[in-house]
Amino acid sequence: MATLGVNIDHIATLRQARGGKDPDPVAAAALAELAGARGITAHLREDRRHIQDRDIYLLKQTVATHLNLEMAATAAMVTVALDLVPAMATLVPEKREERTTEGGLAVAGHEKEIAKIVESLRSNNILVSLFIDPDLNHLKAAKRAGATHVELHTGYYANAAGQARTEELYRLRDTALAAQKMELCVNAGHGLNYRNVAAVARIESLEELNIGHAIISRATLVGMDRAVRDMVALINKNK
Ligand code: PXP
Repeated sequence: MATLGVNIDHIATLRQARGGKDPDPVAAAALAELAGARGITAHLREDRRHIQDRDIYLLKQTVATHLNLEMAATAAMVTVALDLVPAMATLVPEKREERTTEGGLAVAGHEKEIAKIVESLRSNNILVSLFIDPDLNHLKAAKRAGATHVELHTGYYANAAGQARTEELYRLRDTALAAQKMELCVNAGHGLNYRNVAAVARIESLEELNIGHAIISRATLVGMDRAVRDMVALINKNK
């Protein structure tokens, strides 16, 4: 049965919009854990557009479940990961222009470079997950590259409709099962939300679902009533 990992990047996005201290992704991570998240994910992007170095080092100290560092497969990010030593590092493709991670990592065809990174992280006690499309070629390449985990890209499923969505769901299920047979731990994420998560949560071989945008979006709305009432009360008390 899958557990929930919460991606807190977009708390940092909101903070960076003003460049101040609020809202703090470290506080959000603690609240997510208190509410039942079994893992915290943060993507330290090379352009530092949301999560900052300060956040990831504090998260390393405060996260009580497990910290999953999403990172590009570059020498600079490997240096950060080896210094930080998160419980897990998930290698993702990263392009500067993209709004969010767009596709899975091209492991097939780049196995040697990826295997070197996997090895240097694993030899420092960091579990390594590769974010891949639900595709057998990339899955086999991930196994050959020495990954302990894969994270299956659920974005194709999330963006499809009708019969295509059912087929994407089967593709996820079949790839998850194949991963399990190869003795890889298998997670999934991207684009999951309150309307589409149920079918993915039913896939038995999945261990963790990593969800960010939908949770942060809902948090801003379900928190709106309380936030406005608190401000009205403060103004009224002082007029
Ligand atoms: N998993 C990976 C590898 C990601 O890159 C992201 C997005 O940062 C997520 C999961 C979470 O996706 P979403 O924000 O759409 O829930």
